[in-house]
Amino acid sequence: MTSPFALPADFLWGVATASYQIEGAAAEDGREPSIWDTFSRVPGAVANGDTGDVACDHYHRWREDIALMKQLGVDAYRFSIAWPRVVPGGSGRTNEAGLAFYDRLTDALLEEGITPFPTLYHWDLPQALQDRGGWPVRETAEHFASYASKVAERLGDRVKNWATLNEPLCSAWIGHLEGAMAPGLTDIEAAVRASYHLHLGHGLAVQAIRAAVPDAQVGIVNNLTHCEPASDKEADVAAAVRADGHTNRWWMDPLHGRGYPQDMLELYGVELPEQQGDLRTIAEPLDWLGLNYYFRNLVADDPGGALPRARQVVPAGARRTHMDWEVHPSGLTKTLLRMTDDYGARRLYVTENGSAYPDVVGPDGQVDDPERVRYLDEHLAACVDAVDEGVPLVGYFAWSLMDNFEWAYGYDKRFGLVHVDYPTQRRTIKSSGHHYADIVRKHRRRARRAA
Ligand code: FCB
Repeated sequence: MTSPFALPADFLWGVATASYQIEGAAAEDGREPSIWDTFSRVPGAVANGDTGDVACDHYHRWREDIALMKQLGVDAYRFSIAWPRVVPGGSGRTNEAGLAFYDRLTDALLEEGITPFPTLYHWDLPQALQDRGGWPVRETAEHFASYASKVAERLGDRVKNWATLNEPLCSAWIGHLEGAMAPGLTDIEAAVRASYHLHLGHGLAVQAIRAAVPDAQVGIVNNLTHCEPASDKEADVAAAVRADGHTNRWWMDPLHGRGYPQDMLELYGVELPEQQGDLRTIAEPLDWLGLNYYFRNLVADDPGGALPRARQVVPAGARRTHMDWEVHPSGLTKTLLRMTDDYGARRLYVTENGSAYPDVVGPDGQVDDPERVRYLDEHLAACVDAVDEGVPLVGYFAWSLMDNFEWAYGYDKRFGLVHVDYPTQRRTIKSSGHHYADIVRKHRRRARRAA
């Protein structure tokens, strides 16, 4: 397998998390509920009835968690800022205690030489805004920009790398069409309108961040994937085109000034809530693009199924993670190539990549996770393959720093490089964490020697 040491000398090594998945302290220091606090209380919505009330208690243990990052030796930390901590009502009053938390976190990261990479929205919409219509209404986009501006003004003297949204596809399609994530709707019209206002909010937030931080590097994080037909049957080939539209083109075309794909507009049959100038705002030029990659999409036609009437299949005998997701590293290379060739990307990060396995702490106190080590190695090799083909990939963030609240799957699915024992909140670096630290250390030393 290709060695990760072939990655560029200044390659950035990071780990990623998200506010609702790790912070806990759900009702502390003025934080008010988000749509995930509400959704996780809907009977049957989340495995075991788990919630993010306590999660990894990172709100109190952040110093210990920075020390773990230091042990892993990473250059950068991608985390998200909780809108319901900073502007608890979604619009209007700013909560100083909420901003102060991210202020302390930023300073402590910088003191340790770790570059902060905040994401402004990783799915925790203030419930107050959901009560006023949520993402399907235009005002939410405007409130997002004003929240973004508050955070950027406060942290922008020290934080230069910003992401607006994490995986708007999940917010819109899974949250408003499939109903498996907050706010739990199954309504194509709400979903299309949500996607549009997420994009608009993104564009407005890019402008707000740039106004507050002139030297900011601003990007967005999408979960795109390589879609290919499960057979050469015409129906499967057509289904793969629809899946690609639903997963990739719908999310990338508007950001690149191409508007929304016509074939998908026809398939959804929903009018866009477009106002003059919106498409230009949505296509505000970006400094970088982030890709979250976990699996490819092998697609079969699904005429009776939900939109886009395409079903994901996993070939018999394929390796799967604890999420049941197919392990398919070359899909990462192909997706990075697509972003470069079809969308002219000039600066790319893998902002998330990782795998869940049912890890346990052994009698010797160690967590041995060879499958995650293998997944990591294979996906880093896929990054090298992309770079070899000229993809401008400049960094990689492992998902995740530590086990956390995996949304509708609750605490059952463990993605961490660090194991969390929830009853005691004890953290244990897994073998994969030690392995990652080793790669980072060696890559850095080789780069230094070569310089
Ligand atoms: C991504 C999310 C992240 C985490 C991983 C496993 O879709 O961005 O929060 O849940 O999947």
